[in-house]
Amino acid sequence: MDTAAIGSEARSRIGAAQSLEELEKLRVAYLGKQGSVSALLKTLGGMMPDERKEQGPKIHALREEVSDLLAARKAEMENAELEQRLKAETLDLTLPPPELPKGSVHPVSQVMDELAEIFADMGFAVATGPEIEDDWHNFTALNMPESHPARAMHDTFYFPAEQETQGNTSGAQEHRMLLRTHTSPVQVRTMRKVAQENPGGAPIRVIAPGRVYRSDSDATHTPMFHQVEGLVIDRGIHLGHLKWTLETFLKAFFEREDIVLRLRPSYFPFTEPSVEADVGFAIENGRRVLGGSGDEPGHGWMELLGSGMVNRRVVEMGGFDPGEWQGFAFGVGVDRLAMLKYGMDDLRAFFDGDVRWLRHYGFSPFDQPTLSAGVGAKS
Ligand code: PHE
Repeated sequence: MDTAAIGSEARSRIGAAQSLEELEKLRVAYLGKQGSVSALLKTLGGMMPDERKEQGPKIHALREEVSDLLAARKAEMENAELEQRLKAETLDLTLPPPELPKGSVHPVSQVMDELAEIFADMGFAVATGPEIEDDWHNFTALNMPESHPARAMHDTFYFPAEQETQGNTSGAQEHRMLLRTHTSPVQVRTMRKVAQENPGGAPIRVIAPGRVYRSDSDATHTPMFHQVEGLVIDRGIHLGHLKWTLETFLKAFFEREDIVLRLRPSYFPFTEPSVEADVGFAIENGRRVLGGSGDEPGHGWMELLGSGMVNRRVVEMGGFDPGEWQGFAFGVGVDRLAMLKYGMDDLRAFFDGDVRWLRHYGFSPFDQPTLSAGVGAKS
């Protein structure tokens, strides 16, 4: 067959092809190794120069044409198929989507977010420190030397002695590693960091939420729990600032204007004077409801947190001159705040990871009922 005959045959057969498989067969029949166009191309080698000059362009043009025809027909088929699908497949956008599983925010995370938000409004930044702490930051720098009886208040998880950090200035005990028993070491770390980076760099206003550990376990104690520490260092700070800050925070947190605070003298080695803060509650339907004075008939006071003016020795160990800088600090159990606000009664359930409990007490990440509202929450 010559080029013209092959050309006209290819035009009609390719034009009539109905499927991609058929098209592929035609491609092989013309352009494949054994194909007729390929066979023509091979004849060029045996031709005399004059003949080749005449036939060469024709054969090459034929190969071009066949390959263009194949491509064009293929595109046509694909378009037709797409058209077909667009006609056949319609999406009903009015159908409700299937319900996707949605996680919930753990009450501890929720309360920590609320705390960060309330204190941010009062100009507090969030500070953090390690949960694996050394003896010095957890005790000594907080005015609890090795022999101090207050250390007995803490049932500490110590690491084996090999875990002690190396070097540094003083005795081995100070470098003994432990799981921090409170968030108060963050006070020391924050002060030292500020003093080092920027001498005289107060004021400091931070809260430090995080996990703490004590060897204790019953309905109201778990070996791991959460605290939030507060620390303010500035000039001329006094107990009045502490009281106002705690009152403002508790009213915002419990979303009640009638929260009444009672400060009671107490003792912590790292604060002087030390005060414990109680909140008044009433009994309604057999339940304690915060608000009002605890001295009213039928009311009571509930111990809520420890606080006080930062002991001048701690200010000093934090790297500040206690003659110039004063401050207050407080520490409160986050889990306890959550239990009080949201009405859970067993602390251990917080850490059991029971999804039924989480579904019941957890918070929607999108539609939060309270402060610290997520995306899409009503304002
Ligand atoms: N760290 C103390 C505790 O865990 C609480 C506290 C913090 C008291 C700061 C006073 C000041 O019991």
